[in-house]
Amino acid sequence: MNAHPIYEILPAWSRKICPYPPGKPIEEVERELGRTAIKLASNENPLGPSPKAVEAIRRCLDRIHLYPDGNGYYLRRRLAEIHGLDLEQVILGAGSTDLIELASKTFLTPGDEGITSESAFYIYRLAIEEMGGTLIQVPMRRMTFDLAAIARAVSPRTKIIYLGNPNNPTGTCFTAAELDSFLERLPARVLVVLDEAYYEYVGRPGYSHSIEYVRQGRNVLVLRTFSKVHGLAGLRIGYGLGHPELIECLNRIRSPFNANSVAQAAALAALDDREHVARSVELNAQEMKFVTEELTLLGVRYQPSVGNFLLVDTGRDCEEDFMRLLHEGIIVRPMKLYGFPTSLRVTIGRHEENEQFLAALRRIASAPVPATSA
Ligand SMILES: Cc1ncc(COP(=O)(O)O)c(C=O)c1O
Repeated sequence: MNAHPIYEILPAWSRKICPYPPGKPIEEVERELGRTAIKLASNENPLGPSPKAVEAIRRCLDRIHLYPDGNGYYLRRRLAEIHGLDLEQVILGAGSTDLIELASKTFLTPGDEGITSESAFYIYRLAIEEMGGTLIQVPMRRMTFDLAAIARAVSPRTKIIYLGNPNNPTGTCFTAAELDSFLERLPARVLVVLDEAYYEYVGRPGYSHSIEYVRQGRNVLVLRTFSKVHGLAGLRIGYGLGHPELIECLNRIRSPFNANSVAQAAALAALDDREHVARSVELNAQEMKFVTEELTLLGVRYQPSVGNFLLVDTGRDCEEDFMRLLHEGIIVRPMKLYGFPTSLRVTIGRHEENEQFLAALRRIASAPVPATSA
């Protein structure tokens, strides 16, 4: 395949890129198995979106022949209001992954260095690599970002640092105080992309005061998403908060209609359904407790998580366990790509989904590996 002349014009760095493997779609698994399946693979909200968001989606369907508001005025205005910021400090994205990539596209040229951690969310590394940037991956410490080691890895060529807080797939986080001292050590020009996709789930005192950095005009781009607690992953909408000059730079490169009209309307409605958010967070906390207690009883190791997912170490080959669970109609994620060859990442679902997962996990511990793909 690589003999095709198209590869002659593909930049050298793109030839080395391994694309992000998305979670297996539930439709595909159900088709292959001929029965219903459950998806605990991509850290979505098992309660789905707020009914208010669904209603807002219905209301805007007769206008989808029109281009969206490329400025995302109403949603940005509401986000600015909620965070106590100005409109010029808010940018929308087609999910936060769009903004993770936009940060690299805006600032990196081939040979510039981008830093992240080993076992960090895979899109950080892709964002650096796809611009021909030099990827520096710093080993983790106690399964989380080693901020001191990252600060030491900064060189005159470093332009951007990606931090996931909490990180996916480890579910670990660092504190606001730790991040404060890290930022103090960084040269002012370096941009820190602070991905807080699971922000609402954390609920730990001292976890984050990221909006303060934005108010202080620091080179920090705070990213949040509507894909997780707000249950709108399929619509692709997220946002970034940063100082006005940073947002202005990003807007130069941003695709003008990157946030679609249906997503903007749904997100606006979702923001104001605090009850749905609270219910989702509460369910996650309850079920996280249930799943971790059951795993402990089963003697299965896991990494304690502040998110809505768990890194579970079965001690067996994760690809094989993934296939076995798939045969049981349960979709999880094997974590070899992240450097955990015997671990699966499992999203915390509704109670009955979690029970099904745990029951299947018990069964596969003694079952033979299936021969077919699903
Ligand atoms: C740490 C982290 N950041 C960002 C994302 C992407 O979210 P979005 O759907 O907003 O692109 C995910 C999704 O799994 C994630 O785990």
